[in-house]
Amino acid sequence: MYPRLGVNIDHVATLRQARKTVPYPDPVQAAFIAEQAGADQITVHLREDRRHIQDRDLKLLRETIQTRLNLEMANTQDMVKIALYLKPFGATLVPEKREEITTEGGLDVMRHQESLARTANLMKEAGIRVSFFIDPDLDQVRASHKAGAEAVEVHTGKYCEAKSLDEEDSEFQAILGSVRAGKKLGLKTYAGHGINYHNLKRLLQIEDLEEYNIGHSIIARAVFVGLEAAVREMIVLIRSKG
Ligand code: PXP
Repeated sequence: MYPRLGVNIDHVATLRQARKTVPYPDPVQAAFIAEQAGADQITVHLREDRRHIQDRDLKLLRETIQTRLNLEMANTQDMVKIALYLKPFGATLVPEKREEITTEGGLDVMRHQESLARTANLMKEAGIRVSFFIDPDLDQVRASHKAGAEAVEVHTGKYCEAKSLDEEDSEFQAILGSVRAGKKLGLKTYAGHGINYHNLKRLLQIEDLEEYNIGHSIIARAVFVGLEAAVREMIVLIRSKG
């Protein structure tokens, strides 16, 4: 089985929200095109400040997506309520700060063990696959398992943005170690953040990575070649296994 590609379409909504007064480009249309191009999953982050994806988008996506809908969300009462009502295929719990441009780091699972465990339990009871977005750190992997996560999405941002080969190597090793540790504990293991058509190649060496959630690089490429081609190119890479 090839790893799955989850296409994050937040940036389509960002472009629409830049004008606020127009209904395009529509992330719902983007999801349809991405699925037709072979995406295995559509990922969206409903942020508390609604800076890109809107409640209307999420509702329509829930009704129209034919593959899997993965909702990235902060662990807040409001978001948990929305997830339990909409019941997406999966929910990825992420830390969220209003001032950040994008999700900056992984969850501190040790620090928020109790409330994360409570949310994980609610999600599982509702039949939603619950994943924790964490830095590549063994303690966070173990804490995620303890808190009842079914999957961990390992934050690949530092690897992807490494400024030297040494830094890239050490970040890669950290991801590899975390994925292996997660697998041993029975967790599903995913990767996301900052992944593009180049830095993906090395990640593909990690056998146990089952899913990649990729947004910015695909939407950026779509500006030049169209969304369908941009998604297809990423799928070809994933299936070539580097
Ligand atoms: N996975 C998670 C948990 C994220 O928060 C994001 C960014 O929204 C992504 C994947 C996609 O990151 P990028 O847009 O850098 O590909």
